[in-house]
Amino acid sequence: MKTIHFPQIDSTNTYLKENYNNLENYTFVSADNQLKGKGRNNRKWESENSKNLLFSLLILDDVLINKFKEISIITAYTIVKYLESLNIENVSIKWPNDVFVNDNKICGILLETVTKDKMECLIVGVGININQIEFSNDLLIKATSLSKLTNKSFDLNSIKQELYSRLLANLDKLKEGYDFYYDITNYDYLKNKEVYINLNDKKEHVKVLGINNDFSIKVLLNNNELDLSSDEISLKII
Ligand code: BTN
Repeated sequence: MKTIHFPQIDSTNTYLKENYNNLENYTFVSADNQLKGKGRNNRKWESENSKNLLFSLLILDDVLINKFKEISIITAYTIVKYLESLNIENVSIKWPNDVFVNDNKICGILLETVTKDKMECLIVGVGININQIEFSNDLLIKATSLSKLTNKSFDLNSIKQELYSRLLANLDKLKEGYDFYYDITNYDYLKNKEVYINLNDKKEHVKVLGINNDFSIKVLLNNNELDLSSDEISLKII
């Protein structure tokens, strides 16, 4: 296992994309500041310098690379359980992989792959708001942080180490065949919520029925049940 830390870098995900060839499985890269932090759907990931956790984990193990759907949601689940261990209440997973506290986002996860003839590696990028208090008002979803929730400040290094070992333990469990489905369904933020989805360039109003055991999501559209995977749709809470 190897950890690398940068005071400043473009993006920890990009670093692993460019260097995975020379690195070992489970290499963990973190940074105090990212100049080009990436979010899902080509958005930027904004984070005040040295206030939050920004890290990426490199996965080179073939069995795990092919379980990327599970890994995306299990990473969110790992963070949910860690926040609960700090006595944070109302923590949930907003499918496919955001972590929410009440109705606010505390963590975002961006999975990337490098594919040549086959998938060469999987990169799990995680941004968790820890000590930042002010967030830009134009964020679609309101952000929160551990400090905002508790009025305390936190040691980034110890959280980082704890999360690293919890994440590796869960990935090892996944590799051994453990099914996280029932653990995860207890934390389904979207279940029974009405949302808009963009389906084939059309905006549709649906009711979410819940996460399926292949980690797609079941929705009700015009009285028809529909299973959707995260690469097929974007989704907006009403
Ligand atoms: C999202 O849009 O919710 C996903 C955000 C992921 C941000 C993290 S921060 C560390 C890693 N490096 C990046 O450039 N992005 C991810």
